[in-house]
Amino acid sequence: MDWVWAAIRWVHLVAAIAWVGGQLFLVLVLLPVLRRALPPAQRTLIVAQLGQRFAVVSWISLGLLLVTGFLNGERRGVAWESLPAAQSTYGQVLFAKLCLVAAVIALTLLHGQILGPRITRLASVASIGGPDAETHRRRLARLSIIVSGTNLLLNLAIVYLAARLVS
Ligand code: HEM
Repeated sequence: MDWVWAAIRWVHLVAAIAWVGGQLFLVLVLLPVLRRALPPAQRTLIVAQLGQRFAVVSWISLGLLLVTGFLNGERRGVAWESLPAAQSTYGQVLFAKLCLVAAVIALTLLHGQILGPRITRLASVASIGGPDAETHRRRLARLSIIVSGTNLLLNLAIVYLAARLVS
C-alpha cells in the first residue's frame, strides 16, 4: 500500500512545514514589523495573542509529527527499544533527532506555559505597576526571545538530521 506510506510522509512533511515555517515567519517577518510599528507593552499583548493562536498550530503539528514519525520509523523497521545503542548511522541519526525533539517539546512548554503568561500579565499591569513591572517585563521578554530562538535553531537542526535520514 504505497499510497498509505506516501500519505504518512506527506502528513509528516506538512506538519514540519507548519511548525518550523510558522516559527520562521514569526521571527523573520511578523516580529520585526511589530517592533517598528508598536510600543513595547502593546506589542507584548499582540504577540501574546499571536502566540496563543500559534500554540494550537504547534501542538497539533507536534502531535502529528510524533505519530507519523513513529510510523515512518516502523516502515524502516526501527527497533525503538534499542535505539539509544544503535550501531547503524540511520539509528544514531534518528536517536539524535529524537533527543532534539524532546528538548524542543520542553522549550515549547517553558515558553508557552510559564514565560508567555507571565510576560502577558506584566504587560497588562505595566502602565499601573510602575518602572519595576516594566523592567521585569523587559527581562522576561529577553529571556523569552532566547528560549524561542534556541527552539528555532534546534528545529533547524532537526530538519538537517531529517535530511540525513532520507539521503
Ligand atoms: C520537530 C519535530 C520533527 C520535525 C521538524 C521532523 C521533520 C522531518 C522531515 C522534514 C523529514 C523528511 C521527510 C521525508 O522526506 O519523508 C523527516 C523524516 C523522518 N522523521 Fe521526522 N520530524 C520531526 C519529528 C519526528 C519524530 C518525533 C519522529 C519519530 C518518532 C520522526 C521520525 C522520522 C523518520 C523515521 C523519518 C525518515 C523517514 C524515512 O526514512 O523515510 N520525526 N522528519
